[in-house]
Amino acid sequence: MKNKFFITTPLYYVNAKPHIGHSYTNIACDCIARYKRLKGDEVFFLTGTDEHGQKVAQAAQETGLKPQEFTDQIAPRFIDLWQRLSISYDDFIRTTEKRHSQAVEYALETLLKQDDLYLGKYKGWYCTPCETFWTDAQLKENLCPDCQRPVEKISEKNYFFRTSKYQNWLIDYIKSHPGFILPKSRTREILSFLENSLSDLCVSRPKQRLSWGIPLPFSKDHVTYVWFDALLNYISAPGFVSDKNRFAKLWPADVHMIGKDILRHHAVYWPIMLHALGLEPPKAIFAHGWWKIEDVKMSKSRGNIVDPLSVIEKYGVDVFRYFLLREVPFGSDGTYSEKALVGRLNSDLANDLGNLLHRTLTMVEKYFKGFCPGQGQADEFDKKLTDQAKELPPVYYQAMEHIEFGLALDSIWALINTANKYIEDAKPWVLAKESKTERLACVVYNLLEVLRLVAVLTYPFIPSTALKTMEQLGLDVELDKGLFKDLLVWGGFPSGKKVQKDQPLFPRVEY
Ligand code: ME8
Repeated sequence: MKNKFFITTPLYYVNAKPHIGHSYTNIACDCIARYKRLKGDEVFFLTGTDEHGQKVAQAAQETGLKPQEFTDQIAPRFIDLWQRLSISYDDFIRTTEKRHSQAVEYALETLLKQDDLYLGKYKGWYCTPCETFWTDAQLKENLCPDCQRPVEKISEKNYFFRTSKYQNWLIDYIKSHPGFILPKSRTREILSFLENSLSDLCVSRPKQRLSWGIPLPFSKDHVTYVWFDALLNYISAPGFVSDKNRFAKLWPADVHMIGKDILRHHAVYWPIMLHALGLEPPKAIFAHGWWKIEDVKMSKSRGNIVDPLSVIEKYGVDVFRYFLLREVPFGSDGTYSEKALVGRLNSDLANDLGNLLHRTLTMVEKYFKGFCPGQGQADEFDKKLTDQAKELPPVYYQAMEHIEFGLALDSIWALINTANKYIEDAKPWVLAKESKTERLACVVYNLLEVLRLVAVLTYPFIPSTALKTMEQLGLDVELDKGLFKDLLVWGGFPSGKKVQKDQPLFPRVEY
């Protein structure tokens, strides 16, 4: 039986165009999803758009469109971007879909029936960009404590979810499941937040003030709070109400991947909602770090938003994917700059990887008429390279299982660098001159074999490049069919295969 693996991204607000921050989360999830497929897991990779709430309603109003028309225009931009970024998602959910609103209504009715919802009065402050209520004490210098923007005073009748009732359960759950909130430092953050008593969550908005939301099934005067609605996508998409068998197979999700900005919603309110509904929490919530531009926050008003489409048009998808996953340890914050991206392109991709492939294939053509020679007898000289290649898969596996992209890439690039050095030391051109054909064959075979392994292991990160590498090596291998273990056995390159040398993978770029 195949192992099921269910991974999710946040549902992005459609009030603006997607930027590199959104791309980052989806690229990270795609990398994990591809790795799991390579390993043979049955993957369900879910992404989508968050389309209700005040923020989206305001953005629609500014364009003069009705909210639904507006979201219908923006949602396809996300779909288009994910295609261009090679995001291999299995399902895309929009919160305006019927399968979703049905699940939200069902959840609300269930909670009301079991007295987990009550009608109360809300008095306090509201931050529209964060779609969050704040109390007097929580404000910082009269501004939203999260985004430091002005807040609005609000006093209205609303429905509340008895979150406070479940606070102790949540604390115990987090303490007894050390892998639940990742990286570990984030567990401490949430536990310290939970040291203060939790207020009940306001889960409705009066229609009078905001009509763009899923109507509460039991109150004609209210719509559902956008966060309560959006979080439920993680169960509505796999079929909580619409396909119970599928849901039973898929739930709980294995990883909710999010940015650190929305950890509290996911690690506090969401598990409590699930628990109240009688469902298991997700197995893990991973909150990654934040990208800044030259050390400042990206924002529309600063005009420093990096458009992923313009980056990939200029440098290609895989350069962008590689840069984001390599530049900072996953979980930490990072600084985006075009200069740093070009640096990675020229050094790691063009010089190290691209050169290794091109030089090796040139040798295969020059010395072996384009055919992979026999494996030959490896000796002491080859040992460093062959041992490193054989030791790489378990190191890579550990790194990938712990979502440590940087470590996985470091270990692959260490092998690539050893291989480049191996060429310098082996001096194939001297071996050819001295007609040491057997030795030359062994050297060239080892290089081809390293490149085959590198193609397999880089596939989750830079899928198009991995496939191009395989093509140039003359190999026709399906990388998403669970053959991971077989593909990584040293000596798998079939002797006698004709290589298909093409242009270098990455031309160097001047910056
Ligand atoms: O919060 N660096 O949607 P959102 C890294 N709709 N990641 C970033 C980033 C940056 N500078 N900017 C955005 C919402 N992200 C809600 C979510 S889920 C049920 C509802 C990524 O459009 C990161 O994943 O504001 C962050 O958590 C998410 O985009 C926020 O997207």
